Amino acid sequence: MTEKRQFRAIKGTRDILPPDSALWNWFEQTARETFERYGFRDIRTPILEETELFARSIGVETDVVSKEMYTFLDPPRDLDPIPRMLEKGSGSSVKLSDLAPRDVISLRPEGTASVCRAYVEHGMHTLPGNVKLYYIGPMFRRERPQKGRYRQFYQIGAEVLGQSDAPAIDAEVIEMLLTFFRRAGLTGTALSINSIGDKNCRPQYVERLREELRAVKDSLREDSQRRIETNPLRVLDSKLPEEQPIIEKLPRISDHLCADCRDHFAKLKDELKLRGVAYEENWRLVRGLDYYTRTTFEVTATGLGSQNAVCGGGRYDGLVELLGGPPTKGIGFAIGSDRAFLSIQEGKDIPHLPGLAVFVAWMGAKSYPTAVAIARKLRDCGLSVELPPEEMKFKKSLGLADKLGARYALIIGEDEVASQTFTLKRLSDADQKKLSENDLLEYLESERRS
Ligand code: HAM
Repeated sequence: MTEKRQFRAIKGTRDILPPDSALWNWFEQTARETFERYGFRDIRTPILEETELFARSIGVETDVVSKEMYTFLDPPRDLDPIPRMLEKGSGSSVKLSDLAPRDVISLRPEGTASVCRAYVEHGMHTLPGNVKLYYIGPMFRRERPQKGRYRQFYQIGAEVLGQSDAPAIDAEVIEMLLTFFRRAGLTGTALSINSIGDKNCRPQYVERLREELRAVKDSLREDSQRRIETNPLRVLDSKLPEEQPIIEKLPRISDHLCADCRDHFAKLKDELKLRGVAYEENWRLVRGLDYYTRTTFEVTATGLGSQNAVCGGGRYDGLVELLGGPPTKGIGFAIGSDRAFLSIQEGKDIPHLPGLAVFVAWMGAKSYPTAVAIARKLRDCGLSVELPPEEMKFKKSLGLADKLGARYALIIGEDEVASQTFTLKRLSDADQKKLSENDLLEYLESERRS
């Protein structure tokens, strides 16, 4: 016989157990309700996609694509990391050029690329008005796990796709996000916004930035030095203390926006004020994914340490076209549920969720059929009911009801079955009532609604 072995969840992944899972459901349900009030509808895309979808959308040079994706071949073969596969002369036993793109697949690291792929695949541009979609589900990034950073984490995202890039859309999306956070009890949030320009003005800015960075290259650390050539905007993301004084002196995109982008950003700020949304401008908010244009934003929350971004988002006006669709504007965000949740728990403002309502304490084989029937009727009324599968002694039964946190114990013995009246005991104060079946159902139902 093989030796026994205990298994643990893989590093960076975790189980969400009751009662936390009930809070997660409530959190996600609150998002659904809020987003649907703003006209968004649920979309469910696959967790597996072609790797190339993410490489094209998010960018090959980004950390997410170059270091963090779970990628494999289908059917399985030896596989090098994506950047090595892209390098000429890689020692890999499999060359990217030898493979059909469909053979290389990844676990999704985010949802925007999949939503845009689905938008193109299903010709959703022919739908009337803007297409407003939201999604809830797990994402996968092979990052170094720490508080608030996992390898399997959960996002709640929303995207607006269509012909218009009106700043009112950006502002409404942000208003919806903050409305959700308020309803979910997430306090201490702060919104930062920026505009990173578009294809008309950003390339000149990036070149200017690159030149300035080359001049100070020797004072920068290795990561930033590399980014000067691959993606100089990402240098602005650096958190290294020694790089801060250098970054502060770099040219700012706000001084290099074209007239259209400047106007778009000014209107966005007016629209946010109109909605009473407080924000801070942060010229260094460039975001780590390549598809962004113009508006970028992030929300931070308290109680999270260094991983304090609970939501990131922005505009991605060229992405649908890049994925073979018609010219389309897009904006959206994704909330990191794990982090939002940590922050809510840190704030101790945890909502009280209804638990077990009734424990059916049945005794005697003759009372069992009645107990089964009443348990079903109570469940039909929407109550959470525990029916012990085996007979228990009265004291043990009430003890378990108490430990499970039931609000009531319903006592069904052979006497109760004979008289068709049942004893309902409220466990918080031991108050008892004798009720007929009808009165019992009516009483518990009205209690559930109150
Ligand atoms: P992102 O900034 O990469 O953007 O991720 C959004 C949020 O997901 C982050 O602010 C964070 O709360 C959470 N998150 C990211 N990585 C992890 C992790 N390893 N562990 C826990 N939480 C994490 C996007 O994903 C874009 N798709 C957002 C977007 C939608 N932009 C436009 N539309």
